[in-house]
Amino acid sequence: MKLLLIGAGGREHSLAWKLAKSEKVEKIFVAPGNGGTAFADKCENVDITDINELLAFAKENNIDLTIVGPEDPLTKGIVDLFKAGGLKIFGPDKAGAELEGSKSYSKDFMKKYGVKTAEYEVFYDADKALGYLENCTYPIVIKADGLAAGKGVAICETREEANDSIKSFMIDDIFKGAGAKVVIEEFLDGVEASILSITDGKTIVPFLSAKDHKQIFDGGKGPNTGGMGVLAPNPYVTDEVQKEFEENIMAKTLAGIQAEGYDFKGIIFFGLMITKKGTYLLEYNVRMGDPETQSVLYLMESDLLEVIEAAMNEELAGFEIKWSKGTCVNVVLASGGYPGEFVKGYEIKINEGVKDKVFLAGAKAEDGVLKTNGGRVLSVLGVGDTVEEARVDVYNNIDGVEFEEMYFREDIGLI
Ligand code: AMP
Ligand code: GLY
Repeated sequence: MKLLLIGAGGREHSLAWKLAKSEKVEKIFVAPGNGGTAFADKCENVDITDINELLAFAKENNIDLTIVGPEDPLTKGIVDLFKAGGLKIFGPDKAGAELEGSKSYSKDFMKKYGVKTAEYEVFYDADKALGYLENCTYPIVIKADGLAAGKGVAICETREEANDSIKSFMIDDIFKGAGAKVVIEEFLDGVEASILSITDGKTIVPFLSAKDHKQIFDGGKGPNTGGMGVLAPNPYVTDEVQKEFEENIMAKTLAGIQAEGYDFKGIIFFGLMITKKGTYLLEYNVRMGDPETQSVLYLMESDLLEVIEAAMNEELAGFEIKWSKGTCVNVVLASGGYPGEFVKGYEIKINEGVKDKVFLAGAKAEDGVLKTNGGRVLSVLGVGDTVEEARVDVYNNIDGVEFEEMYFREDIGLI
């Protein structure tokens, strides 16, 4: 099969690596790809991001299946476009992608179908939002409605902080439209878990759980990032939590997907908060997580293409995904200064011995040389039978990677 994989992150390098292992896969075009997919087995980068140009490319090159990595093309309706053009594509339609594209839409969906989630109110008007803050209990959570590259959530400890967030989201318009509408939400205290899953619209099959580390500094301090490292499986997802998740969140979500009539053959990612009052859904994503994917796919023993084909053919009922028994930790190596300002263009050196444990993200290939090209540059993986073994492995492997101003957390996987 000839595949077209859309995206440019560490997630896509990891997807490309896993898909290339399938005997059925002959070639993977990655659009636009990155420095990792540029050199990956069976892969070729193509410099296209516009969804109409992607459609034309897929037609011209007789692509058998397109797999969409990031949310952006999904919320723009790439699935509807490809299907109308008679092409096979893995991902939700535009209506289903709104579960990630709009926080107010997804919260209303959760409420409508009884999915356990934090209490919330939606505001279209800054004065009304500011007025509401007078009588809230703090901390409180303020979320820009639209996509804001993972930066649209503010946890506000005081009314002053909340006022400032409302002003910057709604009046100063720092997210260029995405914050014109906001969700103000009850703060939940607990530990987070990411459960990625696959659906064919009739069944949802969860993947192994994962634990992201969102803040930039050790101990969960400092501003939120796209994710600084992941432990999989997530030790906080006990059998009891898993059961609660499947009953109160996953099953109700599936019922909602069916009742709304989405055409949803794709990934649904549940961002959970495990609290003393039970397990809550914080958010949906309609794509795999980054860097969750890097750890989770490393532990997947099944052929990913076969898993995706089962979803495409509506054969997920009774389908079992095989997982390795081990633990995988991935640590993100970032450019110094991220998530603020940072310098790009440093050469990245990776020792031969750790090459198959490195997934590149913000990195490009320039005349055959790998260079830093983003905040989160790459993930290094470590595996073991226990969390401790995997942690030792990953921090050893990091010694095999070098670039200037490299920054990473030392506590990924510590529980
Ligand atoms: P989201 O994009 O909704 O996942 O939010 C980003 C991050 O903000 C989450 O991963 C949590 O760390 C935090 N967060 C979001 N909603 C809440 C909430 N209601 N209570 C506490 N933390 C939250
Ligand atoms: N790592 C969190 C996300 O991909 O949204």
